Amino acid sequence: MITSLAYLGIRSPKVDEWPDLVTKVWGAQLAEPGPDGAVRVKFDDALWRLQIHPGEKDETAYIGWSVDREEDLQAVLKTLADLGVTGEVGSAELAAERAVNRIVVFTDPWGFRHEVTWGQSSVPCSFRPSRPLSGFVTGPQGLGHVLLLLPDIEQGHEFFSRLGFRLSDKIIIPGRLNARFYHCNARHHTLALGQCEPGVAGLNHLMIQVGSIDDVGLAYELAEEHGVPITLTLGRHTNDRQFSFYHSTPSSFHVEYGYGGLEVDEETWVPRVYDRTQIWGHRPHPSGKGRPFGIMHPVP
Ligand SMILES: [Fe+2]
Repeated sequence: MITSLAYLGIRSPKVDEWPDLVTKVWGAQLAEPGPDGAVRVKFDDALWRLQIHPGEKDETAYIGWSVDREEDLQAVLKTLADLGVTGEVGSAELAAERAVNRIVVFTDPWGFRHEVTWGQSSVPCSFRPSRPLSGFVTGPQGLGHVLLLLPDIEQGHEFFSRLGFRLSDKIIIPGRLNARFYHCNARHHTLALGQCEPGVAGLNHLMIQVGSIDDVGLAYELAEEHGVPITLTLGRHTNDRQFSFYHSTPSSFHVEYGYGGLEVDEETWVPRVYDRTQIWGHRPHPSGKGRPFGIMHPVP
């Protein structure tokens, strides 16, 4: 079943604003643009892991996942059929566009398009950070994690558990937050689900993790310097102990830029419940005031 987040695709009218964020703040690398003019971002030796396509409005275009073995895609198709969701084998053209060997596509009950892939293309020793950087934590842990907002996370739990996501823990703050965190590899969570109001769903943030605490401090300074709206200051999470800050992107969703997230040992891990998100920090920053909460869309 699913073993990592392979890539993320966004559509946005503000494609032109992305290269500065990627190179001047994150330290990631710009790959060759896509045929439609998409900004493609490299975090490691994979050809790209984030793609921002030109579009009329901000949209979560697709969430790309990986399976370890080609035959696991059959199991994904069978599980989707059991769940009453139509999964389709994507064309060779689509697989080539996404730089993978095989691809299965489906839309979940909340309107997110998912692409489950095998054989992501990479070129060894090809990653060149755009500024001095220890590098991004990827490999078997994938690109990072995404937080999806769903109007019914109980139903979300049933759905995503069947696709290989195992509960790491919950954070419940009565009247304020109801969130669940799921792992599918050693990363504490690759998928998080947060309860939102009925009728809508959305992408709140993507987390990318670097290999050094100083990379986070430097990114924070650079974000301030380049006028990137910081939504939450530096802080450390209770559950995955990630040391991070959050900033808004040109395309309505947020990026959590972090270091030191916990790794899960499947044999000994016991899920817990927390009643706060941070041990310290993660306070609202004036520059992030009024930024959208995420890319929201109506549930079909
Ligand atoms: Fe996060």
